[in-house]
Amino acid sequence: MPIVSVLSHKGGVGKTSVVLGLAGAAMQQGLATLVVDLDPQGNASSILGPENPTATALDLFNRPGSRALHDAVTACAWESGPGEVDVVVSDPMLIKFDAWKEINSVTPRLTKSLEHSAGYDLVLIDCPPSLGTLAVEALAASDAALIVTEPTYFGVQGALRAADTFDQVKRSLNRKLKDVSVIVNRVKSTADEHDYRAKELAREFGKLVVKPAIPERIAVQQAEGAAIAVQKYGSAGSREIANIFETHLDKLMRRIG
Ligand SMILES: Nc1ncnc2c1ncn2[C@@H]1O[C@H](COP(=O)(O)OP(=O)(O)O)[C@@H](O)[C@H]1O
Ligand SMILES: [Mg+2]
Repeated sequence: MPIVSVLSHKGGVGKTSVVLGLAGAAMQQGLATLVVDLDPQGNASSILGPENPTATALDLFNRPGSRALHDAVTACAWESGPGEVDVVVSDPMLIKFDAWKEINSVTPRLTKSLEHSAGYDLVLIDCPPSLGTLAVEALAASDAALIVTEPTYFGVQGALRAADTFDQVKRSLNRKLKDVSVIVNRVKSTADEHDYRAKELAREFGKLVVKPAIPERIAVQQAEGAAIAVQKYGSAGSREIANIFETHLDKLMRRIG
């Protein structure tokens, strides 16, 4: 069960949308996916989660181990099939665990819970837009990381900082963290600035940038607003986005499988 952190040191770049897009693609392919929402804002949870969960991601930190994971996992609210998506919902109080610490001084707790996630084909961790202890915990529990960015100046900065944190966690806490890649999202093909930043990302990250970039399409927002997978939305834009996520899922599974 490969575990993948989706992160960036920037909000609004599409981390949650990429998690949902990949989970939807995995569902279409008949895979079993677990989404763990570590963002105290809980955007993924508001779409996938039950209204009154009895346990949350906070339990994975408060009492790390198989019992906490078992209690916190629920079937997702999407109409599923052929595969399945389960979710561990967020909790606003996760913020308690996001205080900054030296990476070396973090004693990973999430790892102790997620090591019991056998049975899933893929575990996706939706990270907060910070690079504090929650992101470090996520990377410490992961086999791979996907950095999501927009082709903007601030987006590139957020991606570079996330890559730096990946390197530090790989060196100190988690040597099995083997794969990092960059997904460029919300690209407007008509914007010269986006073209310039896309070239900058290619220069900074080289082959780590996985193609294709994800274009800006209203279908992403429409599907999220309707609380359904983009794969099930049924517009031309959603089909285009669904095809792109299928490619990204295939490439990810090949790299980490
Ligand atoms: N490719 C896209 N096209 C259009 N809107 C997008 C796209 N990706 C993300 N969005 C929208 O941008 C906003 C921020 O995305 P989100 O996934 O919540 O970012 P993050 O998790 O990084 O904060 C959301 O309203 C989302 O629907
Ligand atoms: Mg998010």
